[in-house]
Amino acid sequence: MSRELSLADIFQIGYYWETKILLTAVSLDIFSVFQGQSQTVNQVAEQRALNPRALEWVMNALVAMRVLNKSDKEYSNTPVAEKYLVKGASEYVGHLLLLHDSEWNHWGKLEDTVRTGRSPVSQHVFETQPELGAHVLTVLDRIGRGSGVGLAQRLQLQGAKRMLDVGGGAGTNAIAFCRAYPDLTATVFDLPQTLKVTKTYVEEAGMSGRITLQPGNFHQDPFEGSYDVALMSDILHYQDGRTNAALVEKVYQHLGHEGRLIIKDRFLDPSRTSPAWTTAFAVHILVNTEQGQCFTIEETRQWMEQAGFRTMEELEPCAMVQGTK
Ligand SMILES: C[S@@+](CC[C@H](N)C(=O)[O-])C[C@H]1O[C@@H](n2cnc3c(N)ncnc32)[C@H](O)[C@@H]1O
Repeated sequence: MSRELSLADIFQIGYYWETKILLTAVSLDIFSVFQGQSQTVNQVAEQRALNPRALEWVMNALVAMRVLNKSDKEYSNTPVAEKYLVKGASEYVGHLLLLHDSEWNHWGKLEDTVRTGRSPVSQHVFETQPELGAHVLTVLDRIGRGSGVGLAQRLQLQGAKRMLDVGGGAGTNAIAFCRAYPDLTATVFDLPQTLKVTKTYVEEAGMSGRITLQPGNFHQDPFEGSYDVALMSDILHYQDGRTNAALVEKVYQHLGHEGRLIIKDRFLDPSRTSPAWTTAFAVHILVNTEQGQCFTIEETRQWMEQAGFRTMEELEPCAMVQGTK
């Protein structure tokens, strides 16, 4: 049982100031100015064409937030900022934060959305800002590489020859699965603009001979061929349940005898009040997609049943479900 909320907790939740200070600093690319060096406010202001008086308040807050250090009048990055927030650093995660910043105005309209039921957007980020979407995928790819390897081992895909990764993004899972199973070949189906990024990752991994890229919109365009295993990882929440049911049915048609569909996502428990992160993510989806939402494992199970899957099992609570044809 979690502890009771205090007034201090309520204020902590209600104050978004530090969030916007950090997002603004990333958007202005302040951390890249330092790169191992100390700089005064005026030097940073000059390099980024900013107002020194306003910038100083922001930089002082960043010191208190432990992303900058300050000594006398000179500021520098803390190790964590140097590693993750300097553009061009191998572990740069700024693109993910830039995505959050670009969604700031949508969140500002949450009250309207709750009144009207209408989201302020009509398309998701991979359609509206493919370049930012692609950069975000590179960050997710880096974070996900470890998890892709673990997932490949857990799924026990010995014997599978062909895999379809629906909305496969940067190809993280297809690459990890092909590495783990030498007899496996994969098709990554995704929007053409996303596949530009996927191509570079697949080439870098030396997997161009085993991973095929199929451009298309998974709602409209046909999949090709027959597969032993299909993966739908983090793609359910961009559309409504009826559309997902149709997508599951479409994948079913392309699976061979005893073919497996693995759906990996952020599912809610039956009460829809847990896991806590996913309940907030569901509101994020509410304001940042036109029809999207978060689902329960039970809903996914129903789509699989309707499509004709013979057996279904929850492989990981609130995270992964598998159907077998
Ligand atoms: C959050 S990413 C997940 C990527 C990958 N499956 C993973 O788990 O890392 C969602 C992916 O779905 C793709 N996508 C979204 N809508 C699509 C559509 N209508 N047709 C094809 N791909 C789509 C996006 O381009 C993006 O690569």
